[in-house]
Amino acid sequence: MQAGYDSIANWYDAWVRDQSAVDNTTVSTFLDFIGAVDNQLICDVACGQGRIARSLAQKKARVVGIDISSQLIEIAQREEQQVGLGIQYLVDDAQKLAQLDDWL
Ligand SMILES: C[S@@+](CC[C@H](N)C(=O)[O-])C[C@H]1O[C@@H](n2cnc3c(N)ncnc32)[C@H](O)[C@@H]1O
Repeated sequence: MQAGYDSIANWYDAWVRDQSAVDNTTVSTFLDFIGAVDNQLICDVACGQGRIARSLAQKKARVVGIDISSQLIEIAQREEQQVGLGIQYLVDDAQKLAQLDDWL
């Protein structure tokens, strides 16, 4: 089944990467707010193309990113292969989180 964001995955990815378009203040304020996350196990639910998952992993958290859009997860996985932050990405429905037990 195609998820809503699948059809706009490439557009959304480009939009997120366009620093002039995205409200990066929100993300940086969020990251400041949560503080140190070293070695914490964090599940980024509805992670999209993984921008916040990557920020958390760069802050030394152990991260799993979950999204219902297989297209966005594919983009996230492609970047993980290049950057290697140790993030696990799963296609799953946030209302079920059926695969999370396997990861924990
Ligand atoms: C506005 S985007 C935000 C993505 C990401 N958190 C970010 O900051 O770029 C919303 C995301 O929620 C995901 N989503 C919507 N319903 C979902 C569900 N039931 N389970 C998992 N992900 C879902 C979409 O596929 C999309 O990636």
